[in-house]
Amino acid sequence: MSKDRTAGLDAAVERISRALGPAGCITEPERIAPYLVDFRNLYHGETRLVARPCSTAETSEVVAICHELGVGIVPHGGNTGYCGGATPGTGGDEIVLSLARMNRIRALDAANFTITAEAGCILADVKAAAEAADRLFPLSLGSEGSCQVGGNLATNAGGLNALRYGIARDLALGLEVVLPDGRVLDGLTSLRKDNTGYDLRDLFIGAEGTLGVITAASLKLFPALRSVETAFIAVADPAAAVELLARLRAASGDAVSTFEYLPRIAIELTTRHVHGVVDPLGRPYDCYVLCEVSSAREAAGLREVLEGCLEQALSDGLVLDAAIAESIAQRNSMWKLRESVPEAQRAEGASIKHDVSVPVASLPAFMAEATAAVLAIIPMARMVTYGHVGDGNLHFNVSEPAGADRAAFMLREAEIQGAVHEIVRRYRGSISAEHGIGQLKRAQLARHKDPVALAVMHAIKQSLDPRGIMNRGKVLPD
Ligand code: FAD
Ligand code: MLT
Ligand code: ZN
Repeated sequence: MSKDRTAGLDAAVERISRALGPAGCITEPERIAPYLVDFRNLYHGETRLVARPCSTAETSEVVAICHELGVGIVPHGGNTGYCGGATPGTGGDEIVLSLARMNRIRALDAANFTITAEAGCILADVKAAAEAADRLFPLSLGSEGSCQVGGNLATNAGGLNALRYGIARDLALGLEVVLPDGRVLDGLTSLRKDNTGYDLRDLFIGAEGTLGVITAASLKLFPALRSVETAFIAVADPAAAVELLARLRAASGDAVSTFEYLPRIAIELTTRHVHGVVDPLGRPYDCYVLCEVSSAREAAGLREVLEGCLEQALSDGLVLDAAIAESIAQRNSMWKLRESVPEAQRAEGASIKHDVSVPVASLPAFMAEATAAVLAIIPMARMVTYGHVGDGNLHFNVSEPAGADRAAFMLREAEIQGAVHEIVRRYRGSISAEHGIGQLKRAQLARHKDPVALAVMHAIKQSLDPRGIMNRGKVLPD
């Protein structure tokens, strides 16, 4: 670190410590340690200070000090992100800014179907607050017990209900953001309509903390669900899954809230590695769908619609078998299976992950081509392709061959990712459908993003953060 940077950092640590007091600062190495590593253990960074402001005013003060002294800031939510976005760099010249103490629900307006939550609210707590008011906040992720609303918006999270309710961006009405110079942008509107110029809110959603610190958000709520039907369905192949989705959407009046694809290996891995997971069907099939249809109406007739659709699909050869949950316990058990897949895959050994999307109708062709491309490189690789088929979003993951040399397998990562992403590009898909870019995918963004779009992104960054203090080394390629 240069002399200037060291002096700036010393002064920033001293001034922030004075401003926030002991409750707002972590400086002891053993307490700082959890902030220095990402969820996947891919990145390890350094910092001398974790600032934990408890209000927007305090956040603004911290950011203004860093702006004045040219000190980098790494916003930190629940640290469940997959791309190393919340982990500081190795230079030790940034502070980490944790939103954890900003965890108040500021308002819930049941009549307006809105909730205003601070950025550090845990997603599950926001959902619980909505439920207590007979409302639904539909964003739903396997990490919802620890990820934060600010992190969800900063990564523009997708999850298990996006098909019906949209992704984080679709659920936000307004944001309060501390800009890189410390000013507070008060965009905390609960309006559905506001055509007064550029949409600034959308700039910060998906920016992964590179343009400012989200401190609060006004979010959309929906009527609470009164009837839910959940089915675990064996389908003939991915094309059958896509056809079944279209039929169910039409037959149910677009009441399909979840439509998740799972291959056989997902059941083998989850039943092997995660306690309490069971196969809902009596015998093995090649591939499955976890589907949920739901309604805010009590007697919505969804069971009949689902059964009718499945019967027809069975006689047309799209569906091979199905179980419809008869109890909350059975429903929970189906969900446990789906939500345990990432954990089970981790337990099985090394995995090369892709979080891609293509148009829904192209999914079967994409899966066949990309699978063939991977197996041409490593014939014994195990394809763990699962995910949000309803959104065209697959976790196209590749587990190492059984008994393989982990290091040798991971050496092929760039080759495999290159092959898969080239096919994604041909389908005009995305190389990061819902997990973001962070540190992990910057090089890939440089390769795959339209150069004009990248130039506009750099121009926005330069205009909002000319001193380059917000989340250095994340998202934007150099
Ligand atoms: P963090 O990991 O703390 O931070 C993520 C990024 O956001 C970083 O760049 C950070 O700097 C920035 N950031 C955090 N808070 C703020 C803020 N207040 N202002 C500005 N920037 C900020 N993701 C999905 O999209 N769909 C899924 O289905 C899904 N399932 C998951 C399941 C599991 C088991 C796990 C572990 C993760 C899953 N994820 C999923 C990924 C992850 O949970 C999401 O990306 C989540 O939105 C991250 O939130 P967080 O609070 O943990 O953010
Ligand atoms: C999921 O859908 O389960 C996650 O986004 C993928 C993962 O956790 O790897
Ligand atoms: Zn996902």
